[in-house]
Order: sequence, then structure tokens, then C-alpha cells
Amino acid sequence: MSILIKNGTITTASSQFLADVFIEGETISAIGNNLNHQADEVIDAKGKLVFPGGIDPHVHLDMPFMGTFSSDNYETGTLAALHGGTTMVIDFILQTQGKSLHHALEQWQGRSDGNAFGDYSFHMAVTDFNDDTKKEIVEMIEEEGITSFKTFMAYKGALMIDDGQMVGLMKEVNKRGGMVTVHATNGDMIDALIAKNRKEGNLAPLYHYLSQPEVTEAEASGRFCDMANYTDVPAYIVHLTCEGALNAVRDSTKRNQKVFVETCIQYLLLDASLYEKDFEGAKWVMSPPLRQKKDQETLWAGINQGMVQVVGTDHCPFMWEQKLMGKDDFSKIPNGHPAIEHRMELLYSEGVAKGRISPTKYVEVASTNPAKIFGMYPQKGCIAVGSDADLVIFDPEKKHQLSVDTHHMNVDYSAYEGWEVTGKVETVILRGKTAIEKGEVKIEKGYGKFVKRGKISKVI
Ligand code: URP
Ligand code: ZN
Ligand code: ZN
Repeated sequence: MSILIKNGTITTASSQFLADVFIEGETISAIGNNLNHQADEVIDAKGKLVFPGGIDPHVHLDMPFMGTFSSDNYETGTLAALHGGTTMVIDFILQTQGKSLHHALEQWQGRSDGNAFGDYSFHMAVTDFNDDTKKEIVEMIEEEGITSFKTFMAYKGALMIDDGQMVGLMKEVNKRGGMVTVHATNGDMIDALIAKNRKEGNLAPLYHYLSQPEVTEAEASGRFCDMANYTDVPAYIVHLTCEGALNAVRDSTKRNQKVFVETCIQYLLLDASLYEKDFEGAKWVMSPPLRQKKDQETLWAGINQGMVQVVGTDHCPFMWEQKLMGKDDFSKIPNGHPAIEHRMELLYSEGVAKGRISPTKYVEVASTNPAKIFGMYPQKGCIAVGSDADLVIFDPEKKHQLSVDTHHMNVDYSAYEGWEVTGKVETVILRGKTAIEKGEVKIEKGYGKFVKRGKISKVI
């Protein structure tokens, strides 16, 4: 199978230029002007952008969490991602405390194998670091191609590890060539605030927000940076939301430390005023919570300063009925919101079309940096000869509205209902096959494959 894409505006993390792209099999085999290779399919991309498929390094598919499961599984989640121009996701395996990493890996493989439309990989969340777990780290990296290890500084009793475990894990991961990533919020402070609010009868979604003030994230982010500096491990903070936390990372750069930072699309676009909508605010109950408008500005600036390298989603959808589990108590609302399908279009519309970031920065934070940081470059995240032909053909002018009536995610509301978007994904090619064409699905379930990742470095 071969495809020739003609006359597109190729947009990479470093430049934009007019060219044709020739795809043979699963990879890109030529890029140039006036290519006249014989192809099975020719696509005219005049007036369209052609960029590398999006990589969302933070999703939770079919994940057991807070007494229920996230509502998108591998089938629906990766398909929705493709509709929105994301060709690959990295999901989080959660170790069950008291059980092995391999046990958790088998559970996730059982849910993902043969079910994905789009490509995927795993981070391994270590929730119980002990001598047995320590031995498994090298096997994950060398045999399974799982090279990033997630930690939680919150969710005590389920996912959180203490600082002693954190340092032990960091040392082992560093020795073996991996990376430690973190949900950086101070779990003990948050638990105390939740308990206080519940005791005082403050049970609405607003109190989810008020139980996780900025300081809980800033403090934990600084502590994480200090431990990463002490152990010298490559380090990455997931879903960073606010000025205080970014300043903690900025401080660490003064000793020439590099800590990678991911924010998520919701923290750039939405703010905490949504929690004032009584129980409807449950749609945006996530951890960390949405912040203030000043934090949005900090994050956009952080992207342009190179302090924030990645924009993900933390896609963790729940049906409305699941959110209702916390109708009488905010602490029982399953945390998370749906966005896997909208990240690329929202970031283009609010970022590039509104002049906040350049087209090259867009590709950098949505595709190239995730590939580089997580050990998949140049196989993924770029348009280059020999790279996987994961490409999006994008109409930068087309306006449309986001809605539950038209999205493909398995969730019965939209967190962005009625949002006006400029720019639309038109065609998505995944490893040389047209996967989506004007909203129509052209591949089968099971086409998506697990991507083994390489070792990780502190520089990209
Ligand atoms: O609210 C969130 N973020 N849910 C998913 C779990 C996590 O903390 O990333
Ligand atoms: Zn988290
Ligand atoms: Zn998450």
C-alpha cells in the first residue's frame, strides 16, 4: 500500500514548508517537491496542514478508580483519539498495592490486546516500592519496553508512595535508564482539608477545588524536584496546573536541573469558576482541580518559555451516572474528565489560531516532545524519511462546534459543550493506512499496536 500526499503545508516542530510526502508500507519514504511516485492513493492537501499524528502521553482507559472504571476502553478511547488527530496514547498501568508490577501489566494487556484502533504504550505506576518491585524495574525496561514509572504523592491508601519509597524508586530507575513521572500534590494536606470540609458539611463539588489549593501542588512539585535532583533521575511532572508549581520547577533550573513538565488542555482553557455551578461542577472534578485565569496565562507563557514541554489530556472520563456517586459528597465523585478527542483541535484553535503559540510550537508540545521525552523518537512524533507514517491532514480554516451529540468518546456529556473551534482534522493516517477520512473510520479494531519504548535521557 502506498499513499502520495500532494501540496500540503508540512508542519513540524522546527519548520513549515510546502512539499509532497510519499508513504510506502508503514513508513514515510520520500519528502520533496513535485514527487511523482506511483501511488495506490493520492491525496490533495492544498491549503491544508500536514503534521505528525498527535501523541497524548496521559490517558486512563478502562481504569479501575474510585470504585468504578473510566468509561472509555481501548476500543472507544483510541478511536475517539484518532478522530481528533491523536494517533498514539500512553496509558497508565496501576500496580495494586501488595501485588507485583507483572500482575498489573497482565491486567492491562488483557484489556488492551487486540482492542485498540490507535497505537499505544504504557507507563507503569509504582504504588508499592519494595525489594520485589525493585527487581521488576529492569525487566519492565529491558523486556517490556516500559521505560517511564509513574508515582503518586496523593491518593493515600490506594496509590500514594512516601518519600522513602520515592527516593528508592528514583535510584533504581536511574540506574536502569528510565524516567520517574509524578502526580505532584501533597496527599496528606489534601486529605486533611477533605476531612475538614466533610466534617463541616461542605459537600458540593466546589469543595473538591477548595481542598486542593495551589500550595498543595507547589509544595509537592518542589519536593519532587529536590528528590529528582538528589538521585539524578530523569523526571517529569504530569498535569501541572498552576503558577506556584511551575515556579518550583523554575527554581530547580537555577541549579541546571531539567524536570520535564506536562500540562493538560483543560488547565489552559478552563478555570475554577466552573465549580460554582452546583453539582454540574462534577463534570470538571479532576485532580489537580482547575485553577484560576492567572494560572492559564502562566501555563501559556510556560509553553513559550520552554518550561512546559508537553500538552496532554489526563483523559479519564466517567458517565454522568458515575459522577452521581458523589452527589452528596464531593470526595466520592470519580476524578477525571473527557478530552482525548479534543486536545489537538482545541490546542490549535485556542493556541495557534488565536496567536498564543506558533504552529511549530504546537507540533512540538502535542507530538514531537512526547515522542522524544518518552523514548520513541524518531519512530514517532516527526515527519521524516523512515519514520512511521502517522500523519494528520488538517483544515486550519474550518469552523465547528464541540458537542456530546457529535463526539466519539464513550461519555454522555461534553466538558466543552458548544465550544467554537477553528480548525478541523480531515484525514488521519496511522502507520501508512488511512484511519479516518472526513469522520469515517477506515481501519478495524485491533489495528492499533503496542509500542515498545527505548531508554530515556534527561535531554531531548
Ligand atoms: O482527576 C484525575 N486526574 N483522574 C485521573 C487520575 C490522575 O490523578 O491522573
Ligand atoms: Zn494524577
Ligand atoms: Zn492522570
